[in-house]
Order: sequence, then C-alpha cells, then structure tokens
Amino acid sequence: MLLDFSLLSELRFEISRIGDAAFHGNTSLFIEDIINKRVQHEVFAVLRKEKLAGFLILSAVLDEAEILEVAVSESQRRNGIGSELMDEVFVWCAENGISHIFLEVRESNFPARAYYKKYGFVENGLRKNYYRDPVENAVLMSKELS
Ligand SMILES: CC(C)(COP(=O)(O)OP(=O)(O)OC[C@H]1O[C@@H](n2cnc3c(N)ncnc32)[C@H](O)[C@@H]1OP(=O)(O)O)[C@@H](O)C(=O)NCCC(=O)NCCS
Repeated sequence: MLLDFSLLSELRFEISRIGDAAFHGNTSLFIEDIINKRVQHEVFAVLRKEKLAGFLILSAVLDEAEILEVAVSESQRRNGIGSELMDEVFVWCAENGISHIFLEVRESNFPARAYYKKYGFVENGLRKNYYRDPVENAVLMSKELS
C-alpha cells in the first residue's frame, strides 16, 4: 500500500529498522526528510500479520521515477514481498503518467540485480566507485513503462 502521512509516521521506526539493517543508516534520514517535508517521495509498504515486512521509497518527477530504496525484512525475503512492492509501484506509475523508471544498485548485490531483472529492468550503465563504506561501483538499471 502507498503510505499516507499518518501511516508513514506510524511505521517510521519499523521502516528505519528494516532499512538501516539493509543500508547502514540511510533510511532513517530519508524518512525524517519525508516526514518533515524537506523532500517529496512516495513510500510503499507491505504488511504481514499487521507488521511491516518491506518498504520501497520512490522519487517521481514529471514522467520519470527513481527507486531510492527497497528492502524486505531479512527473515521474510524470498516470499514474494519484494514482488508485491514492485507490482504496486508499477500500478502507481501507470496511474501517475510515469514512463521511465530507474535506479542504482551495488555491483555485488546479486539478489537485488536478479530481482530488478525479473521485473524487466535492464542494466545500462556503471558509475565507478559510486558507493562509500565500502567503496563500490553502482550498476544503473532502468525500465520503460508502456
Ligand atoms: C532485493 C529484495 C528487496 C527482494 O525482496 P524479496 O521479497 O526477497 O523478493 P521476492 O521474494 O519477491 O523475489 C522476487 C524475485 O527476485 C529475485 N531474487 C530475490 N532474492 C534473490 C536471491 N537471494 N537470489 C537470486 N534471486 C533473487 C528472484 O528472481 C525472485 O523471483 P523467484 O522467487 O520467482 O525466483 C530483498 O532481497 C532485500 O530486501 N534485499 C536487501 C536490500 C536491498 O539490497 N535492496 C536493493 C538495493 S538497490
């Protein structure tokens, strides 16, 4: 589901917990910025047994969107939650006139690269030493939406 302001506020600590475990501390900063309206991003969430199982943060400008973060609770991966998030994003993009969607992913992150490929993203660029801590290349991926 797409989170409105009140659900985002309610789930902020769970989102930060899952995200910070996956991304070393960036997620809580993102969520603070969204809640304080310093940036406008869409946040999608999947719940299991009324608890957050995964989330995805999307930034949309005109007809383009960027997936900034997607993470599923470690104990619940490979259970279709990432797929559910991506399906919701595609529906939202179709409803909001998005024709191009893109992202960056660590080169060594083979599960995520496989996940995006399954959803029709193609690898079309490399940013050398883009990530810090540890330093690593970013693979650029994108998908055209019809
Ligand atoms: C990437 C991530 C969001 C996928 O979520 P998930 O809920 O496990 O994904 P799903 O169960 O819906 O799997 C969808 C497809 O992704 C691919 N996939 C997911 N995990 C994979 C793995 N460990 N190895 C290979 N392929 C994988 C498969 O193609 C899978 O389809 P299949 O189950 O029919 O083979 C999850 O692994 C995650 O949170 N990783 C840590 C955070 C991260 O790296 N985010 C991306 C950063 S850009």
